[in-house]
Amino acid sequence: MSEDQQAQDQAQDQGLDGPQDSTRRTLFKAIGAAGVATAGAGLLPGCGPRIEKEQSNLGFAEIPHLLDHNHHVPNEYTTDLLLRWGDPLDAFAGAFVPETLTPAEQGRRFGYNNDFIAFMPLDDTAGPGEGDRHCQSHNSERGLLCVNHEYTQPHLMFPGYPDEDAANRSASAEQVAIEQQACGHSVVEIEKTASGWQPIQGSPYNRRISLTTAMNAVGPAAGDERLKTSADPSGSRIFGTVGNCAGGKTPWGTVLIAEEGFGGAFQGDPDDVADEREARNHHAFGIAKNNRNWGDYDRRFDVSVEPNEPNRFGWMVEYDPYDPNATPRKLTGLGRFEHEGFTLVSKPGQQIAAYGGDDDEHQFVYRFVSNNVYLPGESAHNRALLTEGTLYAGQFNEDGNGRWLPLVFGQGQLTEENGFRNQADVLIDCRRAAKLLGATPMDRPEDVETNPVNDCTYVMLTKNKKREAGDENAANPRARNTTGHVLEIVPPGLFGKRDHTSDTFQWNTFLLGGNPNAEDPRERGAYGQQQPGNISAHGWFANPDNVAFDPKGNMWIATDGCESFDFHDGLWAMATEGELRAAPKHFFGCPEGAEICGPEFTPDGKTLFVSVQHPADGRHSSYDTPMHRWPDNDPALPPRPSVLAIRRLDGGEVGS
Ligand code: FEO
Ligand code: CA
Ligand code: CA
Repeated sequence: MSEDQQAQDQAQDQGLDGPQDSTRRTLFKAIGAAGVATAGAGLLPGCGPRIEKEQSNLGFAEIPHLLDHNHHVPNEYTTDLLLRWGDPLDAFAGAFVPETLTPAEQGRRFGYNNDFIAFMPLDDTAGPGEGDRHCQSHNSERGLLCVNHEYTQPHLMFPGYPDEDAANRSASAEQVAIEQQACGHSVVEIEKTASGWQPIQGSPYNRRISLTTAMNAVGPAAGDERLKTSADPSGSRIFGTVGNCAGGKTPWGTVLIAEEGFGGAFQGDPDDVADEREARNHHAFGIAKNNRNWGDYDRRFDVSVEPNEPNRFGWMVEYDPYDPNATPRKLTGLGRFEHEGFTLVSKPGQQIAAYGGDDDEHQFVYRFVSNNVYLPGESAHNRALLTEGTLYAGQFNEDGNGRWLPLVFGQGQLTEENGFRNQADVLIDCRRAAKLLGATPMDRPEDVETNPVNDCTYVMLTKNKKREAGDENAANPRARNTTGHVLEIVPPGLFGKRDHTSDTFQWNTFLLGGNPNAEDPRERGAYGQQQPGNISAHGWFANPDNVAFDPKGNMWIATDGCESFDFHDGLWAMATEGELRAAPKHFFGCPEGAEICGPEFTPDGKTLFVSVQHPADGRHSSYDTPMHRWPDNDPALPPRPSVLAIRRLDGGEVGS
């Protein structure tokens, strides 16, 4: 730790405005005025230096930027092809034959477009309802892989289906029913064997969650008028989940599933909805007449038939993977928007803090703080933590300070005069509430996750082509942001004891995506304090989406959009502290057309799971004439979204 960092930490700890703080404000003012693309990048120290030497220990040989039909890892690594769309989960499902797929069969097989991954360890001595004991086992050789399936692509799933550009509304009743089973989530028991990771077909833990799975809404919006439909007068019994992007997990052994792009599942003209407020609400989530045609067959997906059904989506869902019969719960207290995910900071004896992003242009970063404290081992107590608390929206000020603004009915502008009847309205119309409070509109917030080693929180902002010149702010410094950036949130307090429940924080720009040598300053990358020459030709990337931290606290960023810069999406790893802070090294590359999601380490850091989503997605690529057929390369099979397990050949920690 440098003396300056120590002074800053001590000043924060004592609630003082130390000398480092005033320097920092001056810097941000100067940067704001200059408005240059490198604003703020790396000018400030990170959180904790105690792991500096270890964190820089990313010894792998970097792979190149490529764009071909394979996936790529460094030489010393191997990949297990663990789960593909259509792989059988129950004991009776046979080999996958996509031409004869039925809805019932899809409901027993791994779903489409895998996204978020949670690895939940299994402890042989613990049973259902003992998730905390399973988690505490840290078993890194057997566990439950809990995987989201974000959305379906009928033109790549069904033989003879029209090209995506030609027809988006051509699905038959049977195809829609298959799609509704291919969305959602899978739980699959997996084990590490001498020949690599394998799924256990027929495990009693294996489960599919889809659009027909019954769920309960809990929290302040459950049972509200705006959640009631003709099929559910209670307003709290909801079938299914959709748009399942990233998520989170809890130390008491539950998994969180995000509902992101749910609007695309609904058809009908919002202007046909009599209630003006609901019409505005539906427009804001992209519900439109020409969306896909699920509503032709499943009438609740037509807003002219069931105007309240969309209000039952756009939530975070929590479920217990260790109990295959557990009913998932939609946690309305975490707000309704296009959730990327929600990740927890859980410290024994303290309130839970959870961070999430709303992945749309000019939307907000959120934080939830539980009313009650986390008590390890007190399962029943802990399971209520995410249902009682306060949701906040982030305000990132020009001077590098920030505030969390509470979304509470009756406070500030969240009143009846402004059209809010109650707390349910504040949560259902979260975007409108956060905007009224003055939250900072961001460049598409994706994952927001806390580094468990240095205790700082990192916000992935993927891009925002809609930000116009003159509309920049210090936290989103580039107009027409095509390459994205990453912010670092520093809550008050010392390393390891930072207060994630505080209403204030400091923030800085950790990196700006893009090539550090780009001619166009708007696309020029800036990586912390690194000089452009420190970043290799393959070390730069764009469009950060998901993020994970290895046991040493190194950051692993997954991208979605690098093909715009003529190379594959993939993974880049970097330290968050020390000399190599924000200096990325390229670790993994996708086959063409795919983005990478999920990255998830086993507790021992020796396996890294990744989701390869929508391989061979591209113009005029279809089931019949795909761009390629990764991963099987079998003329009888289309390209298949798949989960890979990456290991070092010598069994060591990934990245070391
Ligand atoms: Fe589904 Fe925000 O990526
Ligand atoms: Ca994502
Ligand atoms: Ca994405």
